[in-house]
Amino acid sequence: MLLCLGSLGATAWGQPQIIIKFSHVVAPDTPKGKAAEYFKWRAETLTRGRVRVDVYPNSQLYKDKEELEALQLGAVQMLAPSLAKFGPLGIREFEVFDLPYIFDNYDMLHRITQGSVGRELLDKLDAKGIKGLAFWDNGFKSFSANTPIHLPGDLKGKRLRIQSSKVLDEEIRALGGRPQVMPFSEVYPALKAGVIDGTENPVSNFYTQKMYLVQPYLSLTDHGYLGYAVIVNKRFWDELPADVRSALEQAVRDSTLYANRIAKEENDRALEAVRRSGKTHIYQPNARERAAFKQALIPVHARMAARIGPDLIRAIYRETGFKAN
Ligand code: LMR
Repeated sequence: MLLCLGSLGATAWGQPQIIIKFSHVVAPDTPKGKAAEYFKWRAETLTRGRVRVDVYPNSQLYKDKEELEALQLGAVQMLAPSLAKFGPLGIREFEVFDLPYIFDNYDMLHRITQGSVGRELLDKLDAKGIKGLAFWDNGFKSFSANTPIHLPGDLKGKRLRIQSSKVLDEEIRALGGRPQVMPFSEVYPALKAGVIDGTENPVSNFYTQKMYLVQPYLSLTDHGYLGYAVIVNKRFWDELPADVRSALEQAVRDSTLYANRIAKEENDRALEAVRRSGKTHIYQPNARERAAFKQALIPVHARMAARIGPDLIRAIYRETGFKAN
C-alpha cells in the first residue's frame, strides 16, 4: 500500500526507503521553514535513513488550497498549513485561532495548542483522512498598508488580503475594510501591482516575502495569532511500520519544541531587518490606539460564535483566563 502513497527509494543496505514529501508555502528562513528542515534532519537521523524527507518551500509544489487537496490524495505526505486554512475543508473549529486578541502571548496560546483542547482539535481531522500531529508557532500578526495605520478607521475602505477564513473576513469587515482572500504566493505581486492595499501577517512572513519593499507602513498591532497544524495523510501514517512511525513521532515532538523555541526570535529578527532596510515605517500603537482596535475587533468573537462553536470559545477563555480588556 505504501507504494501508492509515499514514494519508495532504497537505503544503502537495500531496504526500501520511505520518502515523505513535505510541502509548504513560506520561505526556508522562517519559523515554519526552519522547523520543516529540522524535522527532516530528526526524521532521517532517528530512522537511520529508512525515511527521507524532501522539503518543498515557497509554494514550489502547491499553493494554499491545492496543498490540502494534494495531501488528501496522497500526492504529498506532510504539510503544515496555517490554522486559518482549515475552514474550506469543513473544520471550522480551527478558525477559533483567528479570533482577534484571543491570545495575548505565547504562554496563553500554548495552554491550548500543547494541551487537551489542542489534541481534540487535531483529532477532528481524522474524518477528513488527515492525521494531525502537532501545532507549530509562528506569531502575532501586524497590519501593513499603503498609508499609515494608527487607528481602526485608517483601514476603512482598504482592500486587505486575508487567508481563507471566515473569521478573518469578519475581522476586516469590523474595521470597515474590504477582505480579499488570496493564496499566500500571490500577496507580494498583488501588493506590488496595487491590486490590494494591505495585508496582515507576522513580521517573519512580511520580511521573507519581501512585502516590506512594497508596503510603506507597518503597524505592530499584534491583533491576532498565526500558527500551524503539522499534518500527514492518515492512510500513509497508519500503514507505516510501527517502529518507523514511533521514530517519526519522536521527530515531530523534537521539531515542535524547536519550532516553538525559535518562532519569537525569528519574528524579532525579521522586524530588525525591516527596520534596518528603511523601506517601511514601523509604528507601535500606543495604549489608547490599541484599546480602540480591541474595541472594534473583540465583538467578532460573539459574531463568529455560532460558526466556531460557543463551547470551544468558552473552553479557551476558561483555560487561558481571557479578558476582553
Ligand atoms: C498566509 O497565507 O498568510 C500564511 O498562512 C502563510 C504561512 O503559512 O505562514
